[in-house]
Amino acid sequence: MTAQTLVILGATGDLTQRLLMPALYRLRREGLTQDLRILGYAMEPWTRARFQSHIGKALRAFAEDYDARSAAAFVKQLDYASGQLTAQDVAAISGRLSPGTLFYLALPPPLFGTAAQALGAAGFAQAPRNGWRRLVVEKPFGTDLASAEKLRRQMHVHWDEAQVLRIDHFLGKEATQNLMVMRFANRMLEPVWNAQHIAQVQITYAETLGVEHRAAYYDKAGALRDMLQNHLMQLFSLAAMEPLSSWDGEVLRDHKVEVLRAVKPIDARHLAAHAVRGQYRAGRSGRSRLAGYRSEPGVARGSTTETFAALRLQIDNWRWQGVPFYLRSGKRLAGETSEIAVQFRPAAGPLPGLVQAGDSNWLVLRIKPEQRMDVELTAKRPGLKLEGRSVTLSAPYADAGDAGFSAYEQLLIDALAGERAHFLRFDEVEWAWRIVDPVLRAWQHGSPDFYAAGGEGPATQARLLDAGLRWRSIAATTADVAGTP
Ligand code: BG6
Repeated sequence: MTAQTLVILGATGDLTQRLLMPALYRLRREGLTQDLRILGYAMEPWTRARFQSHIGKALRAFAEDYDARSAAAFVKQLDYASGQLTAQDVAAISGRLSPGTLFYLALPPPLFGTAAQALGAAGFAQAPRNGWRRLVVEKPFGTDLASAEKLRRQMHVHWDEAQVLRIDHFLGKEATQNLMVMRFANRMLEPVWNAQHIAQVQITYAETLGVEHRAAYYDKAGALRDMLQNHLMQLFSLAAMEPLSSWDGEVLRDHKVEVLRAVKPIDARHLAAHAVRGQYRAGRSGRSRLAGYRSEPGVARGSTTETFAALRLQIDNWRWQGVPFYLRSGKRLAGETSEIAVQFRPAAGPLPGLVQAGDSNWLVLRIKPEQRMDVELTAKRPGLKLEGRSVTLSAPYADAGDAGFSAYEQLLIDALAGERAHFLRFDEVEWAWRIVDPVLRAWQHGSPDFYAAGGEGPATQARLLDAGLRWRSIAATTADVAGTP
């Protein structure tokens, strides 16, 4: 392999120390990036030694399997340059690039456009002969459709779409990739993966953590932008897309876009039936008291930002006619319950008391707290009576000894290899904004519904459900519990 260079812009920031450097350290230890040179770039006028010591501390704090000797060897190879995000300043690193160079914008989002333009104006978007130049852009890509389009125009003054790798770290997760493998590698699923057999799909990403130290960003973003427009929309399109004719990254992205384009536009006049927002107020988790969102450090006292969002989407195509897809995510909920849950329609024929209403089969791909697949079936309860009860067939994805890689490890390897399948193409971002834009506009006014921290989310989420359906419990990690929150 010829030498490659990774230039991290924003090298003194939080993302670099928490996620990128620990991932790069792990890849180096696994022997996967031996020929990779890493150059940190940031405004701080630090020496190389100071940068190295900063990253050394970060590895100690954030790297899994930390080992002082290998960390010291990794850190010793790191290079550093300081400057502003101007063409003139960045041009100073031109002598330190390789024929294959990846620029990673680990910067605050308002700087993405400026940085892309500065790098382009310095001539860095032009690949040398037998080389390549790519640009990784962190999320979020815009804050609505108009700003995403503006950012795209700024980037494409110098960069081509094929050079731009937009991160959605969910695409690097094992569970997300398993969703595709499981759907398409099992003959028994495809015949039933449609409206004739599926009653509903619930995609939930529930977190127990609150806003933590991120109020400056989160209070402007909210749950709909932070989780649904990007991460959950990706899980949704992977769950609903048509079977692929090849594993080519462009074919995959075409299929995902096709799903997003087929989503029935949300009519703002009937918003209550399609979208619910909530905000946590004070509550409890076990014996601990949890503060309300408005009392968290850095949050505006009267903030109306949603910390919970749920959408009901419908796909207007042959496969999914009439099947509701529910997407919801929130902070400070009852559990770290994250899953893609597909409920099948009830079995046909006479079933005297065997299956309780609403208890038909579920297929659940669990992302958190464990990566596991569950199939919930009805089986006979042992005894003299003919009675059914729900049983769960459960399998973890990972065997002891499987080499698990984090999302950032996977995505860095892909970016260096020029593998675009697990990055977002602009039209995916665009159509996802088209879906949520009417909701964002409507939510500029009014307030979210409150829910107690440590609970199931706002009671009003029940109004999104079709008759006879119920939300899966966030607190329980196995079978769902009856009733709505
Ligand atoms: C991030 C969001 O993109 O994803 C966070 O900004 C959220 O608010 C996180 O907590 C969830 O992803 P993960 O991989 O940490 O579970």
